[in-house]
Amino acid sequence: MPDASAVNGRALDIRQWMLYGPFLAQLVITRRCNLSCGYCSEFDKTSDPVPFDDLASRLRKLRELKTWAVCLTGGEPCLHPRLPDLIGEMRALGFRRRQMITNGYKLTKDLIEAFNENGLTDMQISVDGVVPNETTVKTLQPLRKKLSLLAEHARFKVVMSGVIGSAPPAEAIEVIDFARENGFIPRILLIHDENGQLKLNPEELAAYREAKRKIGSRFEDADGYREQLIQEGTAPFKCRAGSRYLYVDEFGQVHWCSQTRGVFTKNLQQYSFDDLKTQFYTPKDCHATCTVGCVRTASIYDQWRGQKNGAPTPGIPAA
Ligand SMILES: C[S@@+](CC[C@H](N)C(=O)[O-])C[C@H]1O[C@@H](n2cnc3c(N)ncnc32)[C@H](O)[C@@H]1O
Ligand code: SF4
Ligand code: SF4
Repeated sequence: MPDASAVNGRALDIRQWMLYGPFLAQLVITRRCNLSCGYCSEFDKTSDPVPFDDLASRLRKLRELKTWAVCLTGGEPCLHPRLPDLIGEMRALGFRRRQMITNGYKLTKDLIEAFNENGLTDMQISVDGVVPNETTVKTLQPLRKKLSLLAEHARFKVVMSGVIGSAPPAEAIEVIDFARENGFIPRILLIHDENGQLKLNPEELAAYREAKRKIGSRFEDADGYREQLIQEGTAPFKCRAGSRYLYVDEFGQVHWCSQTRGVFTKNLQQYSFDDLKTQFYTPKDCHATCTVGCVRTASIYDQWRGQKNGAPTPGIPAA
């Protein structure tokens, strides 16, 4: 049985969900990672995988909140020994999209087939460049075999995403061509600092523009915020983190996003309709220069609705 309820013993009803409910939750299933990307502040080398029963309980709670999509993340999710079972649990609970993000290093044919059987719908595999460098080894050269396995066996959607700013800019362009040729969907992420703020030099900006041109019309998500960030330095939006988007860490704590873990914290099992509503209306002081694309996307439908003016958030530079 779930150990707490969403709204006084009842799941959210559809009206409540329409008003403030989560579109996407990212669930950390292990903080440990087999790699150490130079730009990343989201991993350690020591944590154990979160026990399956704890994760199943968190998934049930997310379902009570009527969360539409769940994305398993980390750390590196493939280090979790029961990853396929977790995906099966997500299907049994009725999540519409069952997603994961991986660096790809641990993929095998058997694991991909287990993902197929258990109902994975979307995988994001991170490929930053062509050859390993000091910052990232998530590159085509060591990952070619894994990517071939995916091209051959995956029955789920595969998005190949690279972080612009982590490898020589020309390599990002080569990754996009490779993704296209192999039936994957290319996507680029802009490198951010530990507060989720943009951090690119002029050469990287030029690579971003070229990548955008290559990816074409499918590229522009969340209302073209990247171009605005680059041209104007800011791209203000009403961030609905804590409501339309939930980041659930390895301890079962909800945060606005991976970059603001020290700012807002509440135990998922105690998360209520009132929390969703409060966080929906809470302005985030980091919004104007935010590069967290999935939160911008989850926030886009509610841009016409207001937010309350609040005091500056401790620990986050004001926009
Ligand atoms: C934290 S990782 C976890 C999943 C998995 N280990 C991976 O690398 O795909 C999730 C995503 O965040 C991206 N990421 C991590 N740090 C970043 C940063 N500073 N700027 C932009 N993207 C970042 C990674 O490249 C990856 O696509
Ligand atoms: S593989 Fe993912 S979690 Fe691991 S260090 Fe790189 S970005 Fe971070
Ligand atoms: S604006 Fe929202 S998503 Fe972006 S860093 Fe702040 S809390 Fe995170």
